Amino acid sequence: MNQKINACQTENTNNQTPVMLVTGSARRIGAAIVKAAHSQGYHVIIHCHRSEQDADNLADQLNDIRANSAKVIVADLAIVNDGAALESFIEHILKSFGQLDVLVHNASRFYPSPLGSIDRTQWDELFLTNAKAPLLLSQALLPYLKRQQGCIVSLLDIHAHDRPFSNYTVYNMAKAAHRMMVQSLALEMAPEVRVNGVAPGVNILPDPTSDQAIDETQQLDIIRSIPMQRIGTPNEIAHSVLYLVQAQYVTGEIITVDGGRSLTMAGGHL
Ligand SMILES: NC(=O)c1ccc[n+]([C@@H]2O[C@H](COP(=O)([O-])OP(=O)(O)OC[C@H]3O[C@@H](n4cnc5c(N)ncnc54)[C@H](OP(=O)(O)O)[C@@H]3O)[C@@H](O)[C@H]2O)c1
Repeated sequence: MNQKINACQTENTNNQTPVMLVTGSARRIGAAIVKAAHSQGYHVIIHCHRSEQDADNLADQLNDIRANSAKVIVADLAIVNDGAALESFIEHILKSFGQLDVLVHNASRFYPSPLGSIDRTQWDELFLTNAKAPLLLSQALLPYLKRQQGCIVSLLDIHAHDRPFSNYTVYNMAKAAHRMMVQSLALEMAPEVRVNGVAPGVNILPDPTSDQAIDETQQLDIIRSIPMQRIGTPNEIAHSVLYLVQAQYVTGEIITVDGGRSLTMAGGHL
């Protein structure tokens, strides 16, 4: 086993190569976490829903670097609503490399839900990825994480606590529930499994082709509001995720990675 694996592995009882699953990791921040973990010697499971082609390309790229080190699992996280589908998803995960050491909850939906327009679909979609699936997946994977003395890392948001994002009430509520999940599970899963979170500020802008895209003036306004005077990067989130994976005495902690933005912000718009 090379030194990089030893440097970053969780307290792995059988000394095999540690395995990390990142939900929604074909692109953007999830892909950055996968690549960073892979470069530290991890076997990685890339989960995706609609971005199967991107997930396959990423897995090919990583398998070219190290053969049989990356696998792809395709699933709508709505599988958590169906016992048999959830069981089959868990089986797939475990069959990939025979174990799971790190579970990263990264998949998310993000869009506004102004008061007056909120409906059950928005509630279900935003709560599914940002709160319900993280909890039910954590519960289902707990026995396997325990076996490895593994850990969970959740991707949260600076708007999940104290500073609501205007017009995003349902998203804010779902991420706040997810934040509380981190703290509750840290208590319930200790001492075998640690549970932590990373709260990004603006670390990658919405895709320019998406309906959430923002124009140049809005981008400049965001940059002006950030003490570090720039948008963050997906790699800066990945760095904190990997720190938490290695930090054997840290549980229930949420690291803010926002260039100081939450210090200057009292709620409000992007
Ligand atoms: N971007 C930021 O600066 C920022 C700021 C604050 C917090 N965060 C948090 O950091 C994390 C990553 O951010 P991001 O902007 O990279 O995320 P993103 O691109 O908005 O979403 C990540 C992935 O979630 C997956 N997903 C959505 N609905 C799904 C479903 N029903 N089933 C399965 N997968 C589903 C999608 O996978 P497919 O493409 O395969 O469908 C998508 O690629 C998120 O949790 C986000 O809330 C990000």
